[in-house]
Amino acid sequence: VFANIAQAPEDPILGVTVAYNKDTSPVKLNLGVGAYRTEEGKPVVLNVVRKAEQMLVNDPSRVKEYLPILGLADFNKLTAKLILGADSPAIQEDRVATAQGLSGTGSLRVGTEFLARHYHEHTIYIPQPTWGNHPKVFTLGGLSVKSYRYYDPATRGLDFQGLLKDLSAASSGAIVLLHACAHNPTGVDPTLEQWEQIRQLIRSKGLLPFFDSAYQGFASGSLDADAQPVRMFVADGGECFIAQSYAKNMGLYGERVGALSIVCKTADVAKRVESQLKLVVRPMYSNPPIHGASIVATILKDKALYDEWTVELKGMADRIINMRKQLLDALTSRGTPGDWSHIVKQIGMFTFTGLNAEQVKFMTEKYHIYMTSDGRISMAGLSSQTVPHLADGMHAAVTQ
Ligand code: LMR
Repeated sequence: VFANIAQAPEDPILGVTVAYNKDTSPVKLNLGVGAYRTEEGKPVVLNVVRKAEQMLVNDPSRVKEYLPILGLADFNKLTAKLILGADSPAIQEDRVATAQGLSGTGSLRVGTEFLARHYHEHTIYIPQPTWGNHPKVFTLGGLSVKSYRYYDPATRGLDFQGLLKDLSAASSGAIVLLHACAHNPTGVDPTLEQWEQIRQLIRSKGLLPFFDSAYQGFASGSLDADAQPVRMFVADGGECFIAQSYAKNMGLYGERVGALSIVCKTADVAKRVESQLKLVVRPMYSNPPIHGASIVATILKDKALYDEWTVELKGMADRIINMRKQLLDALTSRGTPGDWSHIVKQIGMFTFTGLNAEQVKFMTEKYHIYMTSDGRISMAGLSSQTVPHLADGMHAAVTQ
């Protein structure tokens, strides 16, 4: 029956790793997927995660029973607290409904399906550009996607006026996707003053903010600083959706651990929202996996482990910031034509280089350097040893 089924294309991001794995060159470099590597180019498991796992293994009371439909209660509480802040009125007033999710993607999808069922407005505005999976998650989840201007290729910065114009023209009640920090793929974030203007506009038009928080702690190295935009929206008492991921900031990529929080106006509403979230989750995957959430809860609960985590997290963020400086220096010393200062201005895991699809192809074919075709490179995949090779490839690509 499937004789005529079409061959599907590889995923634009994860497919880069598939191509990289097939390459036999010893100098090959994968800067596609946003996954942290050490200076030696190796994936990393945080010490604090190893410790938490050891504690879990040694705990005889631990069983493998099903979690509740919305996940581990401790994990949910601590995760909402991490993004909203311990002193958040929304938490104190018990008006946050949280569901443990399958990392950021699964949490976005649950939020989307909930909105498609229970919210009167089905249009979601997403930044142009955004993470390649966003439009698919929202469309398949039942929303209709429109975009708002975000990135200005001319300045390699934020198109703030375009953003304000497009959101001003959005129909009242529309949903707006916002990257909480370290915008993927551009690495360009609004300033706090610009966030405040965005907040005022969103609230005055009755738009519904939906934050994707995949990089808390990765942009600045501070969990609190990176949560500021979300906290500004929650502080005004309005509603807001937040999808969180522990893939990057705890290095728990394959454990698929994250959460969806819906900040409501009252505790009573939050309780009913929570009851409806269960109806979204149960037929989709029944209940979430236990291991990753237990690691996170163990770390967040224990002051010493939490502190250790923040140090390791800052170490990762600082290494990435250092890679930015090294890459800029390497291009400067090669006299590579163009202004590359955006490499150190952009933040988070990625640099949006400005290289076009042809130049990317050239670098992959001639230099075995793998990245997404929009010119995004994962700075987290770079090391002092590989910076010269990347700079050589970029130099050759722009001067060919
Ligand atoms: C990325 O953008 O590289 C990451 O968020 C990984 C993914 O799932 O695409």
